[in-house]
Amino acid sequence: MESELKIERRRIQEAGQEQLLRFWDELTAVQRDSLLGELRLLEPRELREHCHRAREAYVREKSCPQRLDDRMCPVPAEFLGSVKRSDQGQLRAWEEEGLHQIAQNKVAVLLLAGGQGTRLGVTYPKGMYSVSLPSGKTLYQIQAERIIRLQQLAGEKHGTKCSVPWYIMTSEFTLNPTQTFFEENNYFGVQRSDVVIFEQRMLPAVDFDGKAILERKDKVAMAPDGNGGLYKALADNHILEDMEARGIMYIHVYCVDNILVKMADPVFVGFCVSKSADCGAKVVEKAYPAEPVGVVCQVDGVYQVVEYSEINPNTAEKRNPNGSLTYNAGNICNHFFTLDFLKSVAGTLESRLEYHVAIKKVPYVDNEGNLVKPVQPNGIKMEKFVFDVFQFAKNFVAFEVIREEEFSPLKNADKADKDTPTTARRSLLWQHFRWAVKAGAKFIDAKGHLLEESSSRNPELEDPPVLCEISPLISYFGEDLDLHLNNKDISSPYILDSQRL
Ligand code: UD1
Repeated sequence: MESELKIERRRIQEAGQEQLLRFWDELTAVQRDSLLGELRLLEPRELREHCHRAREAYVREKSCPQRLDDRMCPVPAEFLGSVKRSDQGQLRAWEEEGLHQIAQNKVAVLLLAGGQGTRLGVTYPKGMYSVSLPSGKTLYQIQAERIIRLQQLAGEKHGTKCSVPWYIMTSEFTLNPTQTFFEENNYFGVQRSDVVIFEQRMLPAVDFDGKAILERKDKVAMAPDGNGGLYKALADNHILEDMEARGIMYIHVYCVDNILVKMADPVFVGFCVSKSADCGAKVVEKAYPAEPVGVVCQVDGVYQVVEYSEINPNTAEKRNPNGSLTYNAGNICNHFFTLDFLKSVAGTLESRLEYHVAIKKVPYVDNEGNLVKPVQPNGIKMEKFVFDVFQFAKNFVAFEVIREEEFSPLKNADKADKDTPTTARRSLLWQHFRWAVKAGAKFIDAKGHLLEESSSRNPELEDPPVLCEISPLISYFGEDLDLHLNNKDISSPYILDSQRL
């Protein structure tokens, strides 16, 4: 161990980070082993550059925060498709195109699931969260069942047996629990070989003096390298080769927390394919100027998402003559990429992506060896963002979808007003209630009396009159429900799943 220590000490000195070994004498053999194992993974030159870059970025951000406001322009109308502004025939044509591509095994989904879910306050991956639906399903289960149904829809339409492979990017925090959860639940019915779980890289958190932080005497404080870490992770784990071997051409990338996410949405895929796009983003109209969503726009003529933390309130509040927000294209973290585009990014372009600086409260051990949970931010985390590759697109398109149908993210614990387990559950139950109304269901109370119209209820604040949950295995976007629900009496809680048929 002494010789190993010597080597490691030299490497760590080279990186200018000797403080990481300051508790060495107090560590047990097991702790020493674990710290050395961690340090071995940090390449001295990279570590040195990372810490230097973090400090520089922090100083720059503090002295003159980067503002893009004067260089921003909204997405030009000709590059913005819209569900609301398209007729049924057009939407159907895109859907058919998407289903056609899926039926030929050309479409995969890629889930970004390496985040820590700090705001939600759970210690396990967000995908394992249950928002207390009548069925008790977790986000992962809902997503899995949507994939299964979509495969079935595309396969039946085109007389093929097809699959939509599911790539799941995790991090050191989420890899093991995610893997175990899928195994314990038999992959929720998705073919085991169609689920590929891989891991993104981690980066040390750095203090304001450019020193990597110890979160324990024997552990460096590490954080995932942002959802833009995807591109390095694709290369590290040979994911693009796997896609190529399966004949995948189009990839729908999405984030874990949107309970309404339409996996491999055939309309979106069909829209992007028919526009020959190499890169695309789904957006919703922003609900209010300060809504915490990024804005898809152009900066100096190049497509980009400007994050909610990076936009000036005056710019966010700017309005068009008709009263709509000028920067209205809210990013819902649903992206379309061609495999060729991802190859070019993961190959060479990735290194041109800039890090974003996040100033955070990072638990640390002080010089006396006490564990401290800071009340003020004390650390710098460096992250890349998944959408920063839009700048490399040759043909970028955005597609505006309807919020009530497609976007209800789970970000916060229930004590917050918005984006909570309650709002997510409500969004799904209202959607299913609307589907059931359309399918001709009759809603009755516990005594068997017919219930009145729901129009007086506020979907944001109240549950629908009847809690009705429809399994994604039965219906992906509300299709085929009249077969099961027309004229059917439904009372709360009602679950339509395959066992009831
Ligand atoms: C994200 C978008 C924001 C959008 C909002 C919509 C980014 C950078 N920001 O914001 O523009 O309006 O969603 O809900 O995409 N993740 C990883 N690895 C990481 C960090 C995050 O895989 O290192 C994953 C998370 O697990 C999650 C997704 O990326 O699935 C989004 O991350 P999150 O931190 O929730 O982003 P938001 O700030 O909510």
